[in-house]
Amino acid sequence: MVAAMEIKTTPVLRSRLQEIDIENVPFGKYFTDHMLVAEYDGKTWHSVEIKPYQPIQIDPSNAALHYGQSIFEGIKAYHQENGGVAIFRPYDNWHRFNASAVRMQMPEVPEEIFVEGMRQLIALDKDWCPHHDDHALYIRPFLFASDNAIGVRPSEKFTFIIILSPTGPYYPAPMRIYVEETYTRAAPGGVGYAKTAGNYAAAMYPTARAQQQGYQQVLWTDAFEHKYVQEIGTMNVFFISGKKALTPSLEEGTILDGITRRSVMTVLKEMGLEVIERRIAVDELQEMFKKGELNEVFGTGTAATVSMIRELKYRDFIMEFDTNAWTVTPEILNRLNDIRYGKVADEHGWMFQV
Ligand code: COI
Repeated sequence: MVAAMEIKTTPVLRSRLQEIDIENVPFGKYFTDHMLVAEYDGKTWHSVEIKPYQPIQIDPSNAALHYGQSIFEGIKAYHQENGGVAIFRPYDNWHRFNASAVRMQMPEVPEEIFVEGMRQLIALDKDWCPHHDDHALYIRPFLFASDNAIGVRPSEKFTFIIILSPTGPYYPAPMRIYVEETYTRAAPGGVGYAKTAGNYAAAMYPTARAQQQGYQQVLWTDAFEHKYVQEIGTMNVFFISGKKALTPSLEEGTILDGITRRSVMTVLKEMGLEVIERRIAVDELQEMFKKGELNEVFGTGTAATVSMIRELKYRDFIMEFDTNAWTVTPEILNRLNDIRYGKVADEHGWMFQV
């Protein structure tokens, strides 16, 4: 942990908070009064500043717009039972952010800007953190190339920004998922593990196709055979079979190393389940389902937290689940919420007090 850094702070003259019902908002539509901005000039970070939330000026030749050198993170801060606000595992996101930066040939962001800057920004806008169950203050740090030149080469200059958004659940109801066997999210050696904008852009067309058929998201499969499971939409995925929890392993570098994924694995073990990280074939899931051995399926992510999957469509085969009868998924969510809202002791050291 670093000492508090002096960040130039310009507060708003008048807060917009009264204009927005933060206990009843969709995901990612409203933003708090302030934002943090920092610039990288090719050698050092400078001009770290917290100021009123406002548009940024972009030159038409901005390199990020053309070639996509752009990464982000998703983190949440929660209202605590004792009245404070705490951030869930920000150091894990900081490490992952910098791993994404390295892969995309971008500079790493120092702790005193990413974590301490975030803390100071949230301290200023803490009244924007909702109290409602399943609501949180969503934190969006992002970094993009800011050279103005259209030659294809890594940018020298970069801009880092953190914005905050009071938010409710990303997927409020159990989801219908389409197993994607034509399009690919990630291949070994690619950027699947990095939280880079292009991964999300490339997912939009296949997702829109699935949505036209009534599915909310796709279950991505491997690039070579479309046989092995990777992720669901923007989430990691878990399959519960009796006392076992299966989730795809990370070693191929095609899957995001989710912070919620890690937390859920810890909680599952504490609940007495065996957690198995390995390759999982869709055919195997189908066989398990036919035998009545596939009990619960859910996605995990910062925005989504834990989202139940009520249907998986694999070719002509439909796997439907009665989510009302589930026991494991609701318990994970309860246990995680108790930790995140400060209702139980933080034995894992996951909560970072603002
Ligand atoms: C997350 O924060 O969980 C994300 O991946 C961002 C999501 C809105 C795409």
